[in-house]
Parts: sequence; structure tokens; C-alpha cells
Amino acid sequence: MKRTLNKQSVLAVGMGTWHMGDDPAKEKAEIDALQAGIKAGAAVIDTAEMYGEGNAETLVGKAIQPFTRGDLYLISKVYPWNASADELPKALDRSLARLGTDYLDLYLLHWRGDVPLAETVDALEAAKASGKIRAWGVSNFDVADMEELLRLENGDQCAANQVLYNLGARGIEYDLLPWQAEAEIPVIAYSPIAQGDRLGHHFKNDEVLKELAEAKGCTIFQLLLAWTLRQPHVLAIPQTSDSLHMLQNIEATKIVFSKSELATIDARFPEPTKKQPLAMI
Ligand SMILES: NC(=O)c1ccc[n+]([C@@H]2O[C@H](COP(=O)([O-])OP(=O)(O)OC[C@H]3O[C@@H](n4cnc5c(N)ncnc54)[C@H](OP(=O)(O)O)[C@@H]3O)[C@@H](O)[C@H]2O)c1
Repeated sequence: MKRTLNKQSVLAVGMGTWHMGDDPAKEKAEIDALQAGIKAGAAVIDTAEMYGEGNAETLVGKAIQPFTRGDLYLISKVYPWNASADELPKALDRSLARLGTDYLDLYLLHWRGDVPLAETVDALEAAKASGKIRAWGVSNFDVADMEELLRLENGDQCAANQVLYNLGARGIEYDLLPWQAEAEIPVIAYSPIAQGDRLGHHFKNDEVLKELAEAKGCTIFQLLLAWTLRQPHVLAIPQTSDSLHMLQNIEATKIVFSKSELATIDARFPEPTKKQPLAMI
């Protein structure tokens, strides 16, 4: 199952990296997991200057060393307070140095801050012109933010919006998801498996999901992940430090749902019927 990000075709499941690279004792397992994902066909690696204040980018830099850069799709994110004309180029250079690469495929504004959006867009466009990023996008933007962005000069160059989306947080289905489909801007779903149940949804013990997963011969986490991918303009970036989980996540791209299975899920975890504030963590 493929998706198009800035004209590049990539597997719909990528690899998150939050909390990775912080503990030297876990480094080998983390690198093994990322490399298992790349070998199995995942191209997208999502990281950020925020993650371990650069530790995750450094880890990704180590993990990708043996691979051909052009086969990968690297995403990093800039802190809002670094998203100014002066600071963004410096933050970008630091990220590139940690990643050991000379360009990012996609550079995201991590969330909105005090720097005027127009200044950030100009800085991102300048980074694109310099060849240090191929495309830019945003994260944690709701519909009103996206509308404001698209009214700015070059705002329509936004290549993606990365937001929280999982079975326990369906709010974006009411407005943002259809809005982005119409605008042809992909949604990158973060925390697609609700942090392995750590967001408190207790999916693992849910009888309806258990039964469905059993019937489909997959795990509940694969089911959750595949569910986020049932819409054609959504990619998901689950994070795992476990090579087996990584392969399971990639396998989940093969899971398809019948209408009645989706109805069963909807009955248990209803879709939104009114506007909800954008969920974020
Ligand atoms: N833009 C933003 O503001 C933002 C915010 C949050 C996250 N993100 C990005 O999105 C990525 C994913 O979100 P997330 O890390 O919050 O949560 P997540 O991907 O929903 O969940 C990660 C947790 O799930 C477990 N897991 C992964 N695959 C599994 C599987 N197949 N079976 C069982 N457990 C599994 C992992 O543990 P194991 O290591 O044991 O597998 C890990 O503890 C982040 O890493 C980051 O890159 C972006």
C-alpha cells in the first residue's frame, strides 16, 4: 500500500522515532528496528530536533548509513521558536548534521508558535530553494490554521500536515480529514496505535477489537494501524524499537476491512458528529 508524498511514492507505513536515541543500552535494538523497517520496504522516517534534543536524529543518522539516501524519505521538524528567518536555517543545518545527510525530504513546523506564519513559510521556501529540503509542511494544524496558511503567498506549497489520529482520537474525521482530502494535502497520522495503549484507551483488552483481530489473523495493534490507513490520503508513522513489531507494522499495510467490519468498529468507537478541538500530545 503506497502513498504519494511530494510526488514521491512511499509505503503508507513509516517509522516514528520519538523517545529513541536517549538510552545507549537500547541503541542497538533501535537501530536494528529501523534497519529492519527499511529492508522491508518502509522509506519514511519521522524525526524532530525536539526528540531527545537531537538524540533521535543522531540515531537515525546511524541507522541509515548503510542505505541509499534516495531510497529513504526523511522527515524532520523545527521547533516553533526556531521557525524564524534567522533561526530556521541554523536549526535545519543542525538537523542535517545530526542525520548525516545534505537534504530532508520534508521539513515540518512542529506546531504553531509566535513567529508569524508568513515568515516561517518564507524561511521554508528559502530552505527549499537552497536544496536543503525537498518540501515542507506543518504539524498540529487544525482547519482554521490550514485555511490561514493557504491564504499566504506560497502557503499552497504545504506538502503535508502531521496530526494525532487513532481509533481513540477520531475528531479530525469531522472536518480536517475531508478538508485535506479536498485540498490534496496528505495527512500523516502520529501516535496511530495510541502509543501502544499508553494513551489510556485499553484497546488491547477490548472484546470487539480482540474478536475482529482474531478473525483477521492479526494483532490488535496491527488492526489499529491498518484502520488509520483505510483512507487513501493518510500515512501513519508508528514508533517501535522492536524489529518484530516493525515487521508487523509493515505487514499491516496488507490488511483491508469489509464494510461490515468498519461498521462494527464504528459502533464500538463512534465517528465524531460535531467539531472537536484538534487533539495533540
Ligand atoms: N508531530 C507531533 O507533534 C508528534 C507527536 C507525537 C508523535 N509524533 C511522531 O509519531 C510517531 C508515533 O507516535 P508515538 O510514538 O507517539 O506513538 P505510537 O506509534 O502510537 O506508539 C508507539 C508505542 O507502540 C508500541 N508499538 C509499536 N508497534 C507495535 C506493535 N506492532 N505491537 C505492539 N506494540 C507496538 C511501541 O513499543 P515497542 O517499541 O515495544 O514496539 C511504542 O511504545 C512518534 O514516534 C513521532 O515520530 C509526532
